[in-house]
Amino acid sequence: MAAPAPALDPGNDPSFAELLAQRPHLSRHAHDGLVMEDVPLARIAEVVGSPTWVYSAGTLRRRARALRTALADAGLTATVHFATKANDNLAVLALLGHEGLGADVVSEGELRGARAAGIPASAIVFSGVGKSEREIRLALAEGIMQINAESIEEIAMISEIAAGMGRTAPVAIRVNPDVDAKTHAKITTGLSENKFGVAYDDALALYARMAALPGIRPIGIATHIGSQITVGMGAYRAAYARLAELVRAIRAQGLPIERIDCGGGLGIAYRDEIAPAPAALAGAIKAELGALGLPVMLEPGRWIAGPAGVLLSRVILQKQGAARRFVVLDAAMNDLLRPAMYDPWHGILPVAPAALVAPTAPADVVGPVCESSDCFARDRALPDLPPGALVALLDAGAYGATMSSTYNARPLAAEVLVDGARFAVVRDRQSYEALHTGQRLPDWLTG
Ligand code: LLP
Repeated sequence: MAAPAPALDPGNDPSFAELLAQRPHLSRHAHDGLVMEDVPLARIAEVVGSPTWVYSAGTLRRRARALRTALADAGLTATVHFATKANDNLAVLALLGHEGLGADVVSEGELRGARAAGIPASAIVFSGVGKSEREIRLALAEGIMQINAESIEEIAMISEIAAGMGRTAPVAIRVNPDVDAKTHAKITTGLSENKFGVAYDDALALYARMAALPGIRPIGIATHIGSQITVGMGAYRAAYARLAELVRAIRAQGLPIERIDCGGGLGIAYRDEIAPAPAALAGAIKAELGALGLPVMLEPGRWIAGPAGVLLSRVILQKQGAARRFVVLDAAMNDLLRPAMYDPWHGILPVAPAALVAPTAPADVVGPVCESSDCFARDRALPDLPPGALVALLDAGAYGATMSSTYNARPLAAEVLVDGARFAVVRDRQSYEALHTGQRLPDWLTG
């Protein structure tokens, strides 16, 4: 298991200016305060209310292009499949689809979302440790590009369903390379103790068995070792080296193999992490897998969408506790769950122009939900934030809205896409009526 992250020294936190310098889509205007692309965040809050997720279209495009370019520059034949679990807003998916990205999905809901956003099934890969019969059926009926199978049990199930439908399922085997990605224990997936993939030592025999089954076209192998990987390319290289060895063994048995799925996991700098550049990942793939001459696939989520989004929230009140100042926001852990789950550091910027340059003092930034883990930041240097002040929680474009819930009967927040000087609501704020849609009283309670 990865060790828990050591406590961070607030004295080393990046300043507001440093946070802004690393996020080109955000800037401070003397009059409008914090601006995303050309839209003042205060204007969005005024029109749409808060809390609201706000995404930068320019950043999504820039990052999608940067990844594709890095892979092409390394001389790789590669396709990029956005992990829709990171952000499944249809507008975001459509935008990324226009950039030539496919999708990586893990459920019927995600498959439907990607298709509704215009991503063709021929560019969609279906991952996940447990796919239901219904999901496999739908994927095959749609003409999915690839199913990543994670066990012999699942492969047998796919074979039976496909054969019954008179179809051929394009299947890759997800291999667990038993490599430590050195990330948070809750998002490590490539260790033998994790539930993901088939054991490396069993993979070859399984591939051979799969090739002999009806209704299956053996497409290749896949891996995904974890998420928010920041410490160099060592873990990736180790995993890809094992994949290369496996491809050679597969070929030595005369079995067909068409491509390699290299997974996602590329980390971003939330605070001061050294986030690897796409060129480094492309280089690692080229170095370990390039000689095989096979096309590769990538399934990034966070790297593309994370930095592109903020959670815009309004201060309800500031309260002076016995030992510390609490800034209570109208956003909470039901909106952005990451802090409660992984103790990450998310930058927080005030939106008002004066607040961005005002003197600061430590504060805990919390939400109104009745849990101590409903805390976005501890000991954060922030200016006075009176009731009504706006703040932006940074790098919330991935695993933000997709992980939110209605806990404490709090409606799901609205989502907005900013593109240059224009912005659009791309998801309405959930209404209070909708909160209880589908619930009903049994007749023995109504009489
Ligand atoms: N492919 C597979 C099979 C995955 O399981 C994942 C993420 C990805 C691709 C995309 O990984 P990314 O490039 O985004 O790192 N909720 C957590 C992250 C969970 C990631 C799960 N799998 C968080 O908020 O940090």
